[in-house]
Amino acid sequence: MCGIMGYTGKADATGRLLAGLRALEYRGYDSAGVAVMDAENRVRIVKTKGRLRALEDRLEKCPVHGHCGIGHTRWATHGAPSDANAHPHGTDRLYVVHNGIIENDRELRAELGARGYAFQSQTDTEAAACLLDSLYAGMEDPLAALRAAVARLRGSYALGVIFLDHPEEIYAVREGNPLIVALGEDGGMIASDIPAVLRFARDCYVLEDGEIARVRADGAEFFDRDGRPVCKRPERIEWSTEAAERGGFAHFMLKEIHEEPLAVRQTLGRYVKDGLPDLRGAFDGECERLTMVACGTAMHAALVGKWLMEWLVRIPVEVCIASEFRYNRPVLSPNQRVVAISQSGETADTLAAVRLAKSLGARTVGVVNVPGSSVAREVDQALITCAGPEISVASTKAYTVQLMMMYLTAVQLGLARGALSRERARQIVAALTALPAAIETAIAQSERIQRMAACFDDAENCFFIGRGLDYPGAMEGSLKLKEITYIHSESYAAGELKHGAISLITRGMPVVALSTQEELKEKMRSNMREVASRGARVLLLATPQTAELAGDAEEAFILPDTDALLTPATAAVAMQLLAYYAAVRRGCDVDKPRNLAKSVTVE
Ligand code: AGP
Repeated sequence: MCGIMGYTGKADATGRLLAGLRALEYRGYDSAGVAVMDAENRVRIVKTKGRLRALEDRLEKCPVHGHCGIGHTRWATHGAPSDANAHPHGTDRLYVVHNGIIENDRELRAELGARGYAFQSQTDTEAAACLLDSLYAGMEDPLAALRAAVARLRGSYALGVIFLDHPEEIYAVREGNPLIVALGEDGGMIASDIPAVLRFARDCYVLEDGEIARVRADGAEFFDRDGRPVCKRPERIEWSTEAAERGGFAHFMLKEIHEEPLAVRQTLGRYVKDGLPDLRGAFDGECERLTMVACGTAMHAALVGKWLMEWLVRIPVEVCIASEFRYNRPVLSPNQRVVAISQSGETADTLAAVRLAKSLGARTVGVVNVPGSSVAREVDQALITCAGPEISVASTKAYTVQLMMMYLTAVQLGLARGALSRERARQIVAALTALPAAIETAIAQSERIQRMAACFDDAENCFFIGRGLDYPGAMEGSLKLKEITYIHSESYAAGELKHGAISLITRGMPVVALSTQEELKEKMRSNMREVASRGARVLLLATPQTAELAGDAEEAFILPDTDALLTPATAAVAMQLLAYYAAVRRGCDVDKPRNLAKSVTVE
């Protein structure tokens, strides 16, 4: 996720761009840049690796003045953070800033390279800029060129563009990623998100997919993908600036849950090619077993991965808590992989586990959300997920995309080892591709979950129970609840209750029963009755295939229908919302829970 900003008008464009980028820095902060047209209609580019402060320092040393320009703060997806990969990217005709992923960038680069284009960066954005240039060269009409480019680009993206021979105009293109237009008293603006414009304008036009805007100092015109004018009404934004940074959501956690469909789409867009996984060779060659190292939520994703790999691929998978792995004497072999999962890529224990694995000669793979982070740099191969910055301490969208990587790894290894037919592999990948819609459905039904959350108002203890594939899910649900509500929540393999834990059941204690695996539903029914008979309040998370268990629960939430293998992802969203609403009802600091940090960079 990156931040795009554009301005044209009477004010100093550089100052306006920086003000907007400051408000967008939460969307990405590994590099930043601006392109400003000066009085002689020359475009001055200043861009640098590092946070926005680094760009501001550069601009203080070599100021750039003008009244029209575009700016960008980056969250790298293609190409590590660097000066060369920072946006804007362009040619001697035009400059582009981009948020999202161009999925066919490799074929575009090949085509354009053959036509003489030389690329200065590793970014998909530059491919889009050169494509636009090649189309514009024959047209001299920005709108026609943009429409022709949109017809060639595949992926989910938003673009801000300036054309040197149209010095007072900025263009905005939306295909899947947010982009707004705002008109203030001193000019027109484009931005990825409302916070960037709130100080200068309150009337915003939200672009829809396929729409293109031409923005001038005194107004804006909108067109559909066929070039037909579109009449749009502005929306009046009354948010505070702080609320705007959360996109109008009460908390970053809720905003990030709502971003999960896009995060899944973008991650699958990056690692699925022609309906099958494309993990860039990370698991090519001999791979007889896996050891996965992670902490917290990431470790729960690894446990789901273990279940999937052993079920689908039939290879042994060991999951180690990174803080234990690093103090043990792990037995690793050259024909295995050590997979480190980490949202931040800076968790000290996970990083230490990677270093130990490498010292023992193992080949290491990283599933990491922050490009350029320590784990991403130190593993032999990093698979960067595309959830974008995750601000809330409680991990939500990053977990969901970690699960996606577990599914894709299981499918790829299953195919490679002949343990999975191509037909079943395609079926699973197709189900993954349909997952964003299922997540959106679960989010749309959150009222039922809000009612379920009331059961935690006075709770001091609770259990999450599940069997098989639902057991790691129960562990993750329990962690989500405990870390933001401070309720003492524990997860148990449901079959384990009678071996001791059931002694802890007290009257009125919530027990969340996860039952998504049809072949285990009768066993789960027994567990639900066991705890209910001792006074527990049973809250059921089920699928349409196990919904009959609702008769044995006080409250039930039926997850959207999906391939039974994928329920860890849909159940996770429901439990994230459950934890969120329970924490809000209890007046907890949802985004910054006590004693916790977003990234545990110390031991
Ligand atoms: C998750 O909600 C927690 N904030 C925590 O368990 C987290 O998953 C863990 O610290 C690992 O962080 P990482 O993924 O950045 O390595």
